[in-house]
Amino acid sequence: MFRRLPEIETAAKTAAETVAFTIDGRAASARTGDSVAAALLANGVVTCRNTPVSGAARGPYCMMGVCFDCLVTIDGTGNRQGCQVRVSPGMAVETQNGKREVER
Ligand code: FES
Repeated sequence: MFRRLPEIETAAKTAAETVAFTIDGRAASARTGDSVAAALLANGVVTCRNTPVSGAARGPYCMMGVCFDCLVTIDGTGNRQGCQVRVSPGMAVETQNGKREVER
């Protein structure tokens, strides 16, 4: 569904260009400078949360901080906008299901 532009995909990939992180505990990688939302899409994760009312699936849409459909838990802090945060080495990203938990 989502993939990088061919010229970007075929560019040399060095360790400095790659960031290792996790999505729901699974190992994943991104390119240096990717937002969390872009990294999720590049790793095949199109649903990052479910609405608390209807349970409808939501995923990154605007990629510029407007729609709030990219909310995820990052390093234990919930309701972070994935499109507004750059992925960093060792970052733990979790999808969100249902209502946000207090203190999270
Ligand atoms: S994708 Fe719309 S706010 Fe992040």
